[in-house]
Amino acid sequence: MDIKSIGVIGAGQMGAGIAQAGAQAGLNVLLVDVKEEILLRAFKGIEKSLAKLAEKGKVQNPQGILQKVRTSNRTGDLASCDFVIEAATENEPLKFGVFEELDRICRPEVCLASNTSSISITRIAGKTKRPDRVIGMHFMNPVPMMELVEIIRGLQTSDETYRLTKALAEKMGKVTVLSKDSAGFIVNRILVPMINEAICALYQGIGTAEEIDTAMKLGAHQPMGPLALADLVGLDTVLSVLEVFHASFGDKFKPCPLLKQYVDAGWMGRKTGRGFYKYS
Ligand code: 3HC
Repeated sequence: MDIKSIGVIGAGQMGAGIAQAGAQAGLNVLLVDVKEEILLRAFKGIEKSLAKLAEKGKVQNPQGILQKVRTSNRTGDLASCDFVIEAATENEPLKFGVFEELDRICRPEVCLASNTSSISITRIAGKTKRPDRVIGMHFMNPVPMMELVEIIRGLQTSDETYRLTKALAEKMGKVTVLSKDSAGFIVNRILVPMINEAICALYQGIGTAEEIDTAMKLGAHQPMGPLALADLVGLDTVLSVLEVFHASFGDKFKPCPLLKQYVDAGWMGRKTGRGFYKYS
């Protein structure tokens, strides 16, 4: 199938980034979210990101790219799309509900991908009547800057779905790796425990947030420190990934109590203006 249009459901930072990458690849994109204010924020974010990339000569005609992105608060509008990527909140019952709905709405030949960072693709696929056309497509944050997409085949995913998804990710300018359907796949399995360890180091007073991040930036050549990265990803997302790991792999992956406290306080990182750092 020739994919000309994609739907993205969930207009948070990942959904917005995926929509942008699709539009940059010349695809018509429909970005859907139930909340109008989230759609508006996503659209403004895409506009700002494209302006920045254009300034650096990394994209041409940012306005033309922006025009490829339409928004809607009606999931039913996704019926017209050739491929749909779900980027809703990392919550299992919520994602199951979204896939049941997409399965009813989308044409039978359309593939449904999840940008889940830790939930089983096999289980998500099992909620639909097209399990062979369900796949994981895990983008990295910030999507416009990051080169990787992890592709995850559920037990039921067909070769054709994998081929189409890989080709789509490559059209969006990404390099793909194939991961088994195991909690956290490859990147989060390795990255999120490292972030949790950095939070434990802060909790135990081994260093301040700045010292821990500087240590890892200059001592381990990471582009940003693990605590700043947690703020970028969202502390609620980091916690929910760790909770899946804890349930799947045991105490080695127990979330640090400080992370739980920050999430309870509503300090989710950049998106709420406060996490391990404060943002204006
Ligand atoms: N669009 C356009 N430009 C952007 C951008 C975006 N979305 N995000 C950052 N930039 C620009 C900045 O504005 C800046 O521009 P400037 O040079 O003109 O000021 C430029 O990119 C460089 O940014 P910074 O100077 O702030 O910092 P860096 O050079 O460190 O680059 C980064 C930023 C690409 C985010 C880099 O720090 C990085 O690679 N960090 C690690 C990110 C990472 O590990 N992501 C994976 C997270 S895990 C994940 O997503 C999985 C999930 O399931 C949890």
